[in-house]
Amino acid sequence: MELSAIYEPVQEDLDKVEDRLRSLGQVDFPHLSELLDYSLKNSGKRIRPVLTLLSGKFYDYNLDNLLLMATAVEVLHTATLIHDDAIDNSLVRRGSPTVYKLWGAEEAVLLGDYLFAEAGALTASTQNLRAIKLFADTLKTISRGELNQAFYAFNLEQGYQQYIQRVSQKTAALFFMATESGAALSQAPEESIQILIEYGHNLGIAFQIVDDILDFIGTEEELGKPVGSDLAQGTLTLPAIFLLRDYPEDNPVRKLFSNRDGLDNIKLAIELIRNSSIIDECYQIASDYCAKGCRNLKLLPDNASRQSLIALADYVVSRKR
Ligand code: IPE
Ligand code: IPE
Ligand code: MG
Ligand code: MG
Repeated sequence: MELSAIYEPVQEDLDKVEDRLRSLGQVDFPHLSELLDYSLKNSGKRIRPVLTLLSGKFYDYNLDNLLLMATAVEVLHTATLIHDDAIDNSLVRRGSPTVYKLWGAEEAVLLGDYLFAEAGALTASTQNLRAIKLFADTLKTISRGELNQAFYAFNLEQGYQQYIQRVSQKTAALFFMATESGAALSQAPEESIQILIEYGHNLGIAFQIVDDILDFIGTEEELGKPVGSDLAQGTLTLPAIFLLRDYPEDNPVRKLFSNRDGLDNIKLAIELIRNSSIIDECYQIASDYCAKGCRNLKLLPDNASRQSLIALADYVVSRKR
């Protein structure tokens, strides 16, 4: 199913979130305005705010609070991407030059900080203590995940468990912040909130596994960001972990990580992974996480949002961008 069809039950609300994102650029400092307009313009997939909106549609919701929260979630996501691109030296994102490329690391750090605070302020405007605490916990967790990744760059002593823990932190935490906050802001009973947390957590892990697969098999044209960059940064993702398992001795990833030289080793690793069953194996694991995330959705009220959450899980493992 296309994203537009999946988003249909909340499309009107999402349009309002876009208006709010645009209005954040209206500040009395033209350069900051330019940075905000540039980084919040409508070019991402907007999956996380949609998760908040969909998760908020099962019980008694206050639309204004849901819109504030959905906007906060996308602003927080945007800030993490701006920092991530500066950390990863990435020059292209969403098909355009990154903030880091156009304005440099210093401005990327400061703009990211500004947006973290903006996301916190938006969350606080809901006056929901659970959402406010969740925002702080999520930002701490994402930072831990990114720190773990940076600290273990070019380290071969990382296995499956550490990988899953890292992606739970750097990616899945924000996915379940999106679903948990939507549920909590709509008077959902605690059992239902837990079902939506489980969904967001597992969907987030699957989403990052697929992102890591696409870094090996995708194209920059489709993804709007460079491919093959994880290995170049020394980030050991699931396909590379499986390649090390399958070729414990003579392995291009081992050579790349020990000598740090190596376009040839990167090319060889990509080729080996593409020509093996590793990609299928990773997709299978991502599908299993999606299935796990969806298993209790049937206990929620039956409505169009529930259908969209199920369809979104299928989208996550079939997406090309
Ligand atoms: C990119 O997320 C960062 C990851 C967690 C892999 P998205 O793929 O959702 O990025 P946009 O918002 O659509 O650009
Ligand atoms: C996700 O990881 C980034 C964050 C969770 C902040 P990636 O480094 O894989 O994201 P991309 O590939 O740059 O979008
Ligand atoms: Mg990155
Ligand atoms: Mg990536």
